[in-house]
Order: sequence, then structure tokens, then C-alpha cells
Amino acid sequence: MLVLTSFLLACLASAGPTLATLSLHPRWAGDLVRRDTEALSYIPRGWERITKAPQDHVLTLRVGLKQGRFDELVHRLDQISDPSHSDYGRHLSKEEADELVKPHHSSLTIFNEWLDAHSVDPTSVSRTAAADWATLSVPVSVAESMLGCEFHVYEHTGSGKQAVRTLEYSLPRPLVGHIDTIQPTTYFGFGSSSDVSITACATTGWTPPCLLALYNMANYTAQATSENKLGVVSYAGDCQNKTDLQNVFQKYRPEAVGEDFDVLTVNNGTYGTECEGEGTLDVEYAMGMSYPTSTIVYAVGGEPPFTPDSITPGNTNEPYLEWVQYVLNQTNPPQTFTTSYADDEQTVPRDYAVRVCNSFAQLGARGVSLLFGSGDAGVGGGDCLTNDGTNQTKFQPLFPASWYLQYPEVAAGDNAAFTTGGGFSNYFARPSYQDSAVSTYLEALGDRNSGLFNPSGRGYPDIAAIGDGLLTIEDGQEFAESGTSASTPVAAAVIALLNDYLISQGKSPLGFANPWLYATGLQGELLHDIVNGSNPGCGTDGFMTRPAWDAVTGLGTPDFDKLRNLLA
Ligand SMILES: *[C@@H]1O[C@H](CO)[C@@H](O)[C@H](O)[C@H]1NC(C)=O
Ligand SMILES: *[C@@H]1O[C@H](CO)[C@@H](O)[C@H](O)[C@H]1NC(C)=O
Ligand SMILES: *[C@@H]1O[C@H](CO)[C@@H](O)[C@H](O)[C@H]1NC(C)=O
Ligand SMILES: *[C@@H]1O[C@H](CO)[C@@H](O)[C@H](O)[C@H]1NC(C)=O
Ligand SMILES: *[C@@H]1O[C@H](CO)[C@@H](O)[C@H](O)[C@H]1NC(C)=O
Ligand SMILES: *[C@@H]1O[C@H](CO)[C@@H](O)[C@H](O)[C@H]1NC(C)=O
Repeated sequence: MLVLTSFLLACLASAGPTLATLSLHPRWAGDLVRRDTEALSYIPRGWERITKAPQDHVLTLRVGLKQGRFDELVHRLDQISDPSHSDYGRHLSKEEADELVKPHHSSLTIFNEWLDAHSVDPTSVSRTAAADWATLSVPVSVAESMLGCEFHVYEHTGSGKQAVRTLEYSLPRPLVGHIDTIQPTTYFGFGSSSDVSITACATTGWTPPCLLALYNMANYTAQATSENKLGVVSYAGDCQNKTDLQNVFQKYRPEAVGEDFDVLTVNNGTYGTECEGEGTLDVEYAMGMSYPTSTIVYAVGGEPPFTPDSITPGNTNEPYLEWVQYVLNQTNPPQTFTTSYADDEQTVPRDYAVRVCNSFAQLGARGVSLLFGSGDAGVGGGDCLTNDGTNQTKFQPLFPASWYLQYPEVAAGDNAAFTTGGGFSNYFARPSYQDSAVSTYLEALGDRNSGLFNPSGRGYPDIAAIGDGLLTIEDGQEFAESGTSASTPVAAAVIALLNDYLISQGKSPLGFANPWLYATGLQGELLHDIVNGSNPGCGTDGFMTRPAWDAVTGLGTPDFDKLRNLLA
């Protein structure tokens, strides 16, 4: 019993030991190391602890094992994405990318021993092809014993959504250094997917043909339609109304009438029967602009269902990871993806965010371009208080937009229905391709917003697209939609058609396009530079636009024809 002391204190103070824990070898029970980087000092804002998690409730845990040669993958990604490198565009195959992230043998062995010590059936554990992620479904009682912690049911007060989470967890010392992250444990995010706000603009507004003209792509005809694909990522049981889509085609893109999209459900994603504006808007613009490029909707499950009269929580899987793992396992995924959902970065545990972004890097190395919306709340919505126990006011960058290629709209004036998101990550350092652009901006910024953001962080957005007053049809009614939810599929359509052009010329697709875009954008003229407007939030005026890159509209909005010529 004595060897179990620290374990009992850490985990089972109120629950009492189970038989399984009593028989644990001291190696796995005696010396637990708290994972400080994924611990929370208190319950995140907006969530409430309801009750202790039922011991038999089954949790599906994603374990990120340390990737063997990730540094080498990043090095290859840098070369492949650098227009001046001789390997530019030589993307890796699935097998080559998998090989670089495969964990060391010692990590796999010790992880298996740990599972064995907890009588977790190895055949019940599913692994990615590279074996760098393992997924296990275990009762709360076993998860608590493995992780030296206590799970509770939490409820999001605004939405009523429930989740089984803990504020901290630990790993037995022998596993330290072999495991990067285990989630969902302390991840309370996915609470702030950007809502589409609806403006009253009924008579005039942007349509797919308007945008094709605006971005100088009206005369381009897609040619690589058997190979080139566009992926639209859909979460939260959303769906895309096919009747509305056909009506949009009928009205604005008659040649596309009859064109349909495929649906792939990921992680038991539910394909809803009453579509919200978000999903329908995404395909209307992605397809309305990229026609005749084939479009695939990835309907990703993983949000806990709302069960108002029950404390029995539903599925607690985390959706970004579900999606990226699914795509990594495809031999020929779409070359371009658009995602209009985002979380406040601080609600995503840092180690987990890093691992998800590592997976994005793998896709980049394989030639896939990912676009994420940068949010509609300027430098931050709400009170902007930090989550770390100190409650300071700080700008709130969004994840995953805080890391990768994402596209908000032109910085609209005071008349806009939303405020374009932009700023600097607190998790991810500034990548070298941004050095010149971002340091010029920071110099011009001077003391403005000093102390409210991390000046050495990755700045976002990268580029912009229009996002105010886009005409859509939802549930049979015409609306003018606003937000980066609208501009992200627009920008994705531009990238998808650039990929179409490249593929039709026998060239590689853009893949991780940022190094190319920054090299290009800084030459000026190839993107429309946006110099008017700012992105207020957190009770401040936010960041300002200025010539060249800024933390409001990035490098500007795309000029398809000039970019295509550059790729010729
Ligand atoms: C990967 O895809 C293969 C076949 O396409 C499938 O059999 C396997 O279950 C998938 N693996 C994962 C981890 O999804
Ligand atoms: C498209 O083609 C038409 C007719 O050839 C031409 O008048 C127009 O300027 C072209 N537009 C663009 C954006 O290249
Ligand atoms: C998907 O749903 C089926 C039927 O409800 C269930 O048997 C299966 O375990 C689910 N899979 C996942 C990954 O949740
Ligand atoms: C910060 O806010 C949390 C939650 O509202 C509260 O529990 C905590 O006491 C506050 N801490 C400080 C230092 O004000
Ligand atoms: C799609 O929109 C039509 C009206 O255009 C409506 O009748 C139908 O119920 C909607 N279907 C879904 C699945 O939302
Ligand atoms: C944008 O800013 C420029 C320079 O300050 C100004 O001349 C122009 O009128 C502004 N345009 C709009 C649409 O506000």
C-alpha cells in the first residue's frame, strides 16, 4: 500500500482505490509526474463543474507519442516549400511522411508496457499508420488510474454542452519524454466556433461571379478536374443544404447546375438534417467559385451532444485531430482544404496544439494546403482575460488560425457586421518566412498595444479575402452573410484553382504555401494590399492596417491572374 501513497493523494482522494489500481506495479503507480504544460489552474471561463464523472463512462483518449524524426520532417517541409530550393514542390508520399514521424522503438515498447499494466487490450487500441497516435477507449476508472487524476462532468454555460474533463493529469516517470500529449483531458475548447452573422443587405451584395471578377479569375477554366479536389471541413453535426446549393447555381452559376459534392463522415460524424448557415455558405462559395473542381465535404463528429436532462456525457473526442488523422491516412487527399471553425488559442492545451500542428506540417509536406478562418472578433471577443490564474487582459489569438494559412476578409470599416481576427500567437514562434514582413510591421506599430500581445509570436492572418455581404441562400431564403466563415471558402477556391492550374501543367500543387506567398507578397503588386481599417477588440482599437503585411489583413487579397502567371 505504501508505494501507492502519492498516487492515492493525487488521484483518488475522494474516489477510493479500485482493485485494478491496487494491483499496479509500483513502476506505473509510485512516481507520477504532473504534466504542467497541459494543466489548468482553474476551471476555464464559461464552464461549470457538474459532478464526478461516472466511473463506467467510456473515454476515448488520443495519445500523441513522441515523433521520431519530426525535426527532419520540418527541415524537408522548409525545403519543399521554399521557392528558391531545388527540391521545391517535391512533396513527400504518405509512406515517406509516415516514416519521419514514426516514434522510436523504445517509445512504442514502454507505451505498450503501460497499457499492459492497466490490462488495456492491445487489440482495442487503434494506431495511425505511423503509430505516432494511439486511440484507446477506457472507462473513466481506468483513465483515472492511468493518469493519476480525477475526471468530472463539466458543462458549458452558454450552450449547455457537456464534456468529461480534468484540470490536470500525470504520467508515470518512465513515460516522460515518450508521450507529448493525451487528450481530451484538459482541453475545454471548441466553444467559440465563429458564428455567421447575418446582415440585412438584401438588394446588393457579393456573389460567386462578382468574386471571380474581383479576384481576377473569371476567365480561368479549370482543367485538372479529374485530379484536383477541394475539401470542405464541417463540424458539429452541420450539413450543406443541396437544394439551396442548386438554387445558388441556378441563380449565379447556371453552368454548375447538377454539380454535387461527396460526403465523407469522419469519426461517426453526423450529417445533420437541418442545415445551419455555416455549412451551406461554405459549399455555396467554395463550389460556386471553384466549379467544376470536385468538392468533398468532411463531416467530422466529435462534439459532445447536448443532453439537457442528463448528466451522462456523450462522445468526448476532439475533432481537429480526428479530421487530420483521417486525412493523413488517405493516399490522395484533396490538395486544398477550407475550415471555418476556430477556438481561442488559450483554451487548447499547448502540447496538444503543437501536435495537431505537427500533423498539419505532415500534410504540408505531402502537398496539401490548409486554410483556416481567423475569426470575427478582432483581437479578441468578450473580456479577454487570461486563463492562467492571473486574469490579465490580453489579446486572444485563435487556434488553428494562429499557426497556418488562413484568410480573413478585407478590413471592413465601422459599418461591418463583424471584425476581422488577427494578431500574434502565444504558442507558436514567428516562422522565418515571416521575419521581414512582421518585423517591419512591429516597427511601424511602435508602442501601440504593447504588453497585450506576444511580439515574437507567429503573426496572422497571412492573406485576406472579402467577407462582408456575401449573398447566400439558406433554407430557401436569401441572406447577406458576413465573417471569416465566408472569406475562408472564397480564398480556398482561389488556391484550389491555382492548384488546378499547376496540376494541369504537370507541376506540383502549392502545398504549404506560406513561404511562397510571403516571398511573393513582399514583391508587392501580386496581392491587393489592404491599407484601410483595423480590428478592434478587448476594449482596444486592435491592430491597424498599413502597406505590406499587417495583423489585420495579412499580405492582402489574392489576384488570381497575377499569381497564376507567376506560377507559369
Ligand atoms: C487507414 O485506411 C485503411 C484503408 O484505407 C483502413 O483499413 C485503416 O483502418 C485506416 N486506419 C486508420 C487509423 O484510420
Ligand atoms: C476576360 O476575357 C474577356 C474577353 O476575352 C476580356 O475582355 C476580359 O478583359 C478578360 N478579363 C480578365 C480579368 O482577364
Ligand atoms: C460509430 O457508431 C457505431 C454505431 O453506433 C459504433 O459501433 C462505433 O463504435 C462508433 N465509432 C466511433 C469511432 O465512435
Ligand atoms: C481569476 O478568475 C477566476 C475565475 O473567475 C477566479 O476563480 C480567480 O480567483 C481569479 N484570480 C485572480 C488572481 O483574480
Ligand atoms: C434545405 O432548404 C430547403 C429550402 O430551400 C428546405 O425546404 C429543406 O428543409 C432544407 N433541408 C435541409 C436538410 O436543411
Ligand atoms: C483609405 O486610406 C487612404 C489613405 O489614408 C484614403 O485616401 C482613402 O480614402 C481610404 N479609403 C477608404 C475606402 O476609406
